[in-house]
Amino acid sequence: MKAIVYTKYGPPDVLHLEEVEKPAPKDDEILVKVHAVSVNRSDWEGLRGEQFVRIGGLLKPGHQILGSDVAGRVEMAGREHSQFQPGDEVFGEMWGYHGGFAEYVCTRGTTWALKPAGLTFEQAAAIPQAGVIAMQGMGDKGQVQPGQRVLINGAGGGAGSFAVQLAKLYAAEVTGVDNTSKLDFMRSLGAEHVIDYTREDFTKNGKQYDLILDVIAHRSVFAYQRALTPNGSYFAVGGSLATVFQILLLGAWIRRSTSKNIRILAIRRSRKDLVSITELCEAGKVVPVIDRRYPLREVPEALRYLGE
Ligand SMILES: NC(=O)c1ccc[n+]([C@@H]2O[C@H](COP(=O)([O-])OP(=O)(O)OC[C@H]3O[C@@H](n4cnc5c(N)ncnc54)[C@H](OP(=O)(O)O)[C@@H]3O)[C@@H](O)[C@H]2O)c1
Repeated sequence: MKAIVYTKYGPPDVLHLEEVEKPAPKDDEILVKVHAVSVNRSDWEGLRGEQFVRIGGLLKPGHQILGSDVAGRVEMAGREHSQFQPGDEVFGEMWGYHGGFAEYVCTRGTTWALKPAGLTFEQAAAIPQAGVIAMQGMGDKGQVQPGQRVLINGAGGGAGSFAVQLAKLYAAEVTGVDNTSKLDFMRSLGAEHVIDYTREDFTKNGKQYDLILDVIAHRSVFAYQRALTPNGSYFAVGGSLATVFQILLLGAWIRRSTSKNIRILAIRRSRKDLVSITELCEAGKVVPVIDRRYPLREVPEALRYLGE
């Protein structure tokens, strides 16, 4: 089969279209013919060897095919696989965020779901990672109450664009933060207030929020504390390692000494959350936004665009 392969960390130029062996499903796996795969920031991090990626491969990638969020049709099911049948249209996230930039993938599919007929393969592939981050950041345990002030940092990206729409659905007052070119986009998703991060630091404008979801945390933990209302919550899902470690170290102390809840949100792979956000998409209440489309051979171009 054809796949986009890389053998060293680097810019998108290190990715190449190659002929590789078609994977064979283990007894508990399915073989899926890939119809669409989305490009996520996790692919960029995997390409560059950023964040925690080098735990799986210190000097060179532990896996040679990137690509996390796949939608396709089941071609074969292993003897012990009981959930999906050949012919089923399915979608979900690849374990370890790899394998998807290829014509076929094998997966146990434990957190995958049937693709609703009302969504295209492309729309379905846009949902898993970004949509589940948004669900767990916004929706868990009725976090967001009507009228609450919610800020999403990185609101113009994958997870952020779902989170803005969910927060609006929960009747929150939403502030989106991203770069100048995405201000109108964030407004179009429903954000009442938008902040251009290249011009304004939301932790220094005197405003406070009941919930902050941050996909790109890079400030001091005390800056986030300042931007929270007395009982507010701050959840970081991505960002610089320095900030992640600071939140891990100091977040617990802030939680104990104040009523502010500052933490890293470790996203759980969850079929329930995937199905919930997908139902909202199928009902037209949330839109999976597709910026551009590329054929498989142009995955390097897609990643270059994402990186830029
Ligand atoms: N915690 C977990 O368990 C878990 C699980 C899965 C994934 N993740 C992580 O979650 C993150 C998900 O991100 P995503 O897929 O939504 O990324 P994305 O699509 O790249 O969106 C990030 C957005 O943030 C913007 N941005 C960049 N710098 C900013 C700044 N200083 N202030 C505000 N906005 C800024 C980007 O715009 P520009 O164009 O300006 O860069 C982009 O629009 C990834 O880092 C991924 O690794 C975490």
